[in-house]
Amino acid sequence: MPVRRLTSAAVRARKGKRFPVVTAYDAAFARCAEAAGIDVLLVGDSLGNVVLGYESTVSVTLDDMVRHTGAVARGTARAHVIADLSFGSYEASDADAVRSATALVRAGAGSVKLEGGAAIAPRIAAIARAGIPICAHLGVLPQTAGMGGGFRRKNDRVELLADAQAVADAGAFAVVLEMVDPGIAVEITESLDIPTIGIGSGGGCDAQVLVLYDLLGLYPEAPSFVKRYAELATAATDALRAYADDVREGSFPGPTIVRPVEKAEA
Ligand code: KIV
Repeated sequence: MPVRRLTSAAVRARKGKRFPVVTAYDAAFARCAEAAGIDVLLVGDSLGNVVLGYESTVSVTLDDMVRHTGAVARGTARAHVIADLSFGSYEASDADAVRSATALVRAGAGSVKLEGGAAIAPRIAAIARAGIPICAHLGVLPQTAGMGGGFRRKNDRVELLADAQAVADAGAFAVVLEMVDPGIAVEITESLDIPTIGIGSGGGCDAQVLVLYDLLGLYPEAPSFVKRYAELATAATDALRAYADDVREGSFPGPTIVRPVEKAEA
């Protein structure tokens, strides 16, 4: 019998319980996260920064998200996979939003995420009406931060509380709070009946999410709130240097024993 994946309803039911979320972009690391007991994975469009080498998430396309969502889904069996709607794939119309969300679900996502508050609530409602679970994202919004939204911690209490209520009312099953003042994050968490997933917003959220490459020490520009649990860039560089040395010195693959080639029978 196929293993059932964790549903968005089950994630929503974790309101009030602390749980970890991590980003994933490929099958190999998604498998590691699931083996570590992390069963909510976000295929974030941070893909653009940490994997694809772009300056911002604006360059990430829906096709990129579809490809990497498929990889994460194939690398896992039980995890709930949330996939980011890329910049430009949902803002203009409800039809765009539903079409793009559908493409991500077809690729293996269990739910999708978009950025914005009350202004984007109609898109959240349209996606939810189409039967696709949707996660919201408030605070620092990386897709538009470089165009005026800004990367500084958000502390407009009235606006944040109103946005949080608007996305919950529109049908979001969870909301990411990125770099929100920790006191306001607590207030939002207490005021909503859906889980808040914090990143750089203090310890008062229901869940925490980190960018995989930041916590593994694979991305040199990790934000200051990140805790690095490994130094994989150093480990990988050391391993590659050892391999390169072995090849140059002739110690890998080792001596070759040449056997006479047997003549093919006539
Ligand atoms: O794209 C991403 O990784 C995200 C997290 C920062 C929440 O949206």
